[in-house]
This record gives sequence, structure tokens and C-alpha cells, in this order.
Amino acid sequence: MQEVDVVVLGAGAAGLMCAIEAGRRGRRVVLLDHAERVGKKILISGGGRCNFTNIHCRAENFLSENPHFAKSALARFTPADIIALVEKHGIRYHEKTLGQLFCDRSAMDVVTMLERECAEAGVRVLTGARVASVKRDGKFVVETSAGELRAEAVVVATGGLSIPKMGATGFGYDVARQFGLRVVECRPALVPLVFGGEDAARWCDLTGLSAEVVAAAGVKRRRGSFREKMLVTHRGLSGPAILQVSSYWRAGEVVEIDLAPGVEVFAPLLARNARRDAGAAVMALRTILPGRLAERWVALHEPAGWTNASLEAMEREVHAWRVMPAGTEGYAKAEVTAGGVDTAELDAKKMESRKVPGLYFIGEVVDVTGWLGGYNFQWAWASGVSAGRAV
Ligand code: FDA
Repeated sequence: MQEVDVVVLGAGAAGLMCAIEAGRRGRRVVLLDHAERVGKKILISGGGRCNFTNIHCRAENFLSENPHFAKSALARFTPADIIALVEKHGIRYHEKTLGQLFCDRSAMDVVTMLERECAEAGVRVLTGARVASVKRDGKFVVETSAGELRAEAVVVATGGLSIPKMGATGFGYDVARQFGLRVVECRPALVPLVFGGEDAARWCDLTGLSAEVVAAAGVKRRRGSFREKMLVTHRGLSGPAILQVSSYWRAGEVVEIDLAPGVEVFAPLLARNARRDAGAAVMALRTILPGRLAERWVALHEPAGWTNASLEAMEREVHAWRVMPAGTEGYAKAEVTAGGVDTAELDAKKMESRKVPGLYFIGEVVDVTGWLGGYNFQWAWASGVSAGRAV
């Protein structure tokens, strides 16, 4: 049995950051992961370039049953703080779009940075270590394949259920339940949507076509609307606009898509003496959408007569194309897991359980889910630092 101050379970973005912060404070920290190396998700993130933060990050960019919960941690460790760390390590980066910061070279730079910081902070990193159980016997006892650890504090940073083939497990949720904490129902988020049979037959042969749209999903209190690219896939819809709204979407709801934001597409057909037929409608829509998508959309929405009223109805429909997805591509393709440990169970400054002092939850395992665009890493860094300062 080894005695330490803090055991951090999971060496992803949140666990690494927490371990660094606690180690810098002189705490004896063991960081363990069942994977053979640390930060595997960081390595594949942002197409291998890691979108490590977003300079516009605010609590409004996150979904949670309590939309205010993330504010405290996000204020403690801001995008400027992670940028300062990245710059300290000489990592070059750039803004791609919408405030998203990516490494110029490789996501490996971020992992190397975190490994160096861990070494400097005296963190003991155990990889290939499976956690069998977490128990409390005065202190916490963590049973692992590398032996037993006894600690004052345990930080659960085991992430969500997304990408199981990379080692994602529901372990963090199990620990929460074991200690009597409520877990908000989990669901895949930032995930492509899948069409049912009829819609699949109508649209999916157009796979690869994309357009800038405004997509919206969800009901009043939890509605998300995003102006970004949409992509038709062989099973449904994807692209940033769709991934974003997937986090707000629930089974049985429609997704509403404005295919021509800010443009009055069919106005030319309303002019006196203008040609009014499917060909003219396709010509008008082709100025906004890829040709084949425009042709298909008109073929499926062509009115019986080309009156002013029917043109106006078509105009309304092109700005509010309503699709009913049959489902999502699931955890295998989801970038994150929405839901998780109920924030009502946690202290927002420390990320510590209110019921079980010494037990902390950080990162994706918590019911805080960011938009696409560097927000999820910012949450991982910020919640990790908050816990690291408290343990
Ligand atoms: P994370 O999942 O990173 O780490 C959890 C760790 O716990 C893992 O190392 C796992 O092996 C370990 N673990 C799990 N169960 C265990 C057990 N029972 N015992 C021991 N260890 C266990 N976000 C962003 O902001 N910008 C981006 O560019 C991207 N890109 C991106 C691409 C792809 C393909 C995916 C899947 C996701 C992203 N994300 C992202 C999301 C981002 O990767 C994610 O939100 C964070 O990695 C979450 O960090 P955590 O540390 O909470 O969990």
C-alpha cells in the first residue's frame, strides 16, 4: 500500500492539468491511466492539430442542467492562461476560425508540454494501470493493477463514453453512483445525425456536398442555432453546423435548417415577366447551394403551380427546411458525451463532491459539455486547475 496526497484517475486533458497544478503546490500526486500513454484524445483532436482553446470562451458556450455552473472554473483559468502556457513552451499556434486556436505543427506538442509540466511538478505518472475499485476507509483506497494507493483525495478525470475503441469507459459515472451522486443521463454529442429510410433515399446519394447554413435544434429552453457548414454524408448530415446542433437535439425532434441564410433566393422569379418553372428555381438556388443539392431540393419541393403564393411558400421552406433525423452515429463517432455527474453534487470552485469530501470530478465526466471549437479542452483545463488548487 502506497500513501500519497492525491490520486488522479485518467490522464487526459483534465487529469493532466489537475495533477500539474496539485504537484506545483507540493502535493504528492499519482496520475494513472489504463492506456499505455497519456493524452491519447489530445493526440487525435482537431485533426491532429489540437484545437486547444477558444478565445471567445464563455459559460454560454456550454450545455449543462445548470448553465451557470461552469462560470467559476472558467474564470479561474481562462484562454489567456492556456495560451501563456503554450507560449512558455514555444508552441506555435494560429486562429483557424471563430476564435479557435490550433497548433501549427502537431497535437503532440501539447502532450509533450503537459508531460514536461508533470515531470517538473513531481507528478508520478502510471500508465497501463487499470483501476479496479475506489473505496473509502477514512482515506480513499484505490485498488489498481499496479498496486494499492491510499490518498486523502481522489480526482475522477476518466472522461466520457465517446470513442470506446480509444479506451473510453463509464468508470467515472460508476464511481459517482457508488458514492451516491446523481448522474445526468448521458448521450452522444457533437455527433453526425442519421436519416431514416425515406430521407436517406432522398438525400444520401449526394454525399460529400456541403453548404453554409444556419441549423437549429432543441426546444425553447435549450435551443441551439449555428451558422456554419453542413455536409451531406452517406448516412445523413454532418459538418460543424450539424455537430453543434446535435448536442441540443433529442430523439423525435426536428432539426430546422436555413439553406440560404440572409438571401431571398426566389425573389428574381417574382419579377414581372420572369421565367417561373423548376429550371428557373434551380438556377436561383444554385447561386447559394451546390448544383446537385439545389436540383434535388427543388425537385422535392416543386409547387403544383408557380403562383406568387407558392413562390413565397418555397422561400419560407428554403429558410426552414425541417428534417427529422432517425438518430445519431452514436458514441463511436461522437466527439463528446453530454450529461454526466450532476453539477448540483459539486462545489463549483473546487469541483469537490458536496456529499463526499475529498472526492472530485473534472472534465468531460461532469455534466458540462462545450460547443465544437476548443471549448471542451478549455473546460478540461479550467476544471482541472480548479480541482488541482483545492486538493
Ligand atoms: P479524456 O477522455 O481526454 O481522458 C480520460 C482518460 O481517462 C483517458 O486517458 C482514458 O484512457 C482514461 N480512463 C478512462 N477510464 C479509465 C479507467 N477505468 N481506468 C483508468 N483510466 C481510465 N475538444 C476540443 O476542445 N478541441 C478539439 O480539437 C477536440 N477534438 C476532438 C476530436 C475527437 C476525435 C474527439 C473524440 C474529441 C475531441 N475533443 C476536442 C473533445 C476533447 O477531446 C474532450 O472533451 C477532452 O479530451 C476531455 O478531457 P478529459 O480529460 O475529461 O477526458
